[in-house]
Amino acid sequence: MQSRGDYSNGFHELEPVEEKRVPGFSSFGRAKRRSNRGGAPDTRDGLANGVRVSDQLGEQKPLETQKSPPPCTDFDVAYFHSYAHVGIHEEMIKDRARTETYKEAIMQHQSLIQGKVVVDVGCGTGILSIFCAQAGAKRVYAVDASDIAVQAKEVVKANGLSDKVIVLHGRVEDVEIDEEVDVIISEWMGYMLLYESMLGSVITARDRWLKPGGLILPSHATLYMAPVTHPERYSHSIDFWRNVYGIDMSAMMQLAKQCAFEEPSVESISGENVLTWPEVVKHIDCQTVKIQELDSVTARYKFKSMMRAPMHGFGFWFDVEFSKPPSSPAKTTSATSVASGSSSMSPSREGYQKKRSNPSDALVLSTSPEAPPTHWQQTIVYFYDPIDVEQDQVIEGSVTLSQSKENRRFMNIHLEYSSAGRSFVKESVMR
Ligand SMILES: C[S@@+](CC[C@H](N)C(=O)[O-])C[C@H]1O[C@@H](n2cnc3c(N)ncnc32)[C@H](O)[C@@H]1O
Repeated sequence: MQSRGDYSNGFHELEPVEEKRVPGFSSFGRAKRRSNRGGAPDTRDGLANGVRVSDQLGEQKPLETQKSPPPCTDFDVAYFHSYAHVGIHEEMIKDRARTETYKEAIMQHQSLIQGKVVVDVGCGTGILSIFCAQAGAKRVYAVDASDIAVQAKEVVKANGLSDKVIVLHGRVEDVEIDEEVDVIISEWMGYMLLYESMLGSVITARDRWLKPGGLILPSHATLYMAPVTHPERYSHSIDFWRNVYGIDMSAMMQLAKQCAFEEPSVESISGENVLTWPEVVKHIDCQTVKIQELDSVTARYKFKSMMRAPMHGFGFWFDVEFSKPPSSPAKTTSATSVASGSSSMSPSREGYQKKRSNPSDALVLSTSPEAPPTHWQQTIVYFYDPIDVEQDQVIEGSVTLSQSKENRRFMNIHLEYSSAGRSFVKESVMR
């Protein structure tokens, strides 16, 4: 298991100090999470094979004109290994909001795909590549470094598409494609959008192969945050200890808080849990975003609570948008989807509207609490103790999301927040 390295989970109030960490428990309760999505590998799995993906793919060399690709670390090996499990793909494909919106987006942009060359970055089982072939693509390069590529090849063959869909078993950073492409499609979004750090590979593919003005699906992504109240969750995990079969076990509460709220929690909340309109943490234009921008993202926020409530933490969610490139003359057909339209919590946010490239007709896949549920759910960073907020009370501060130096697939979350003259800091790691 990865060592804790130089980051530490922690929470402290700046002034006055109200809470202390309970030392020694910060690594508990985490192995549970990524059995269902390939973000936080147990490196022992990857290393047990004793092979690096880069070794397996040793014949493939980058073009001379390319910079040498980043090394494939043991963590990357384990990451790809986790995607060889059928369960992850089953979960993603059964997520109808996700899969149907991608299909819808492909059909909406059919005129830009028909007769064109496509790269599917991280093809998994090959489902998006096959949708593109069905939409009339001339050729689809379906790239995946995970062994799931073996199955993708079989699936492509069984559907009589082997002449159109070329499965490349390797990293996007390493494989060779000897032509420019018109379209990039990828489902790269991790929990809280940036967890897993897969967007960097889409950027690499864009910079290696995409023709100027080519189509990238999705075209834009936006991460949001908002203060949340969740009394039931708090009471279920913490207040429970106040009276256990008539015994006062409140001495357990500090430990319970540490264990329950140390790490970000992927769970479903509803609009009723959200105390204000969300704010944008990061808006990404996939045509222009640079890899370095994603190393660390900082946003300042200022919320005014719309109600009196205990605030238990901040919720994060994202949406992605499927717009045509700005210069493209192609017409898009109107489309509706279970997940189409703007994020239901966000459209009236002026700041959000300004950032949207094409608010009127873009197809949007939203993971907002008020959108149809997806396997991403929402991510909540809980405080160890709620803070009581009055209606119109201001909560302000900043959030920094950065790739862990030790394993870039992990995400460090640094939250600063102040309200009613008190300031707090919470640090956590999504692993
Ligand atoms: C979220 S899954 C999406 C799978 C499939 N496209 C779908 O929509 O069902 C991401 C896939 O990308 C692959 N992947 C991630 N980074 C990659 C890289 N740098 N090169 C090749 N494959 C990558 C993973 O192995 C995984 O199978």
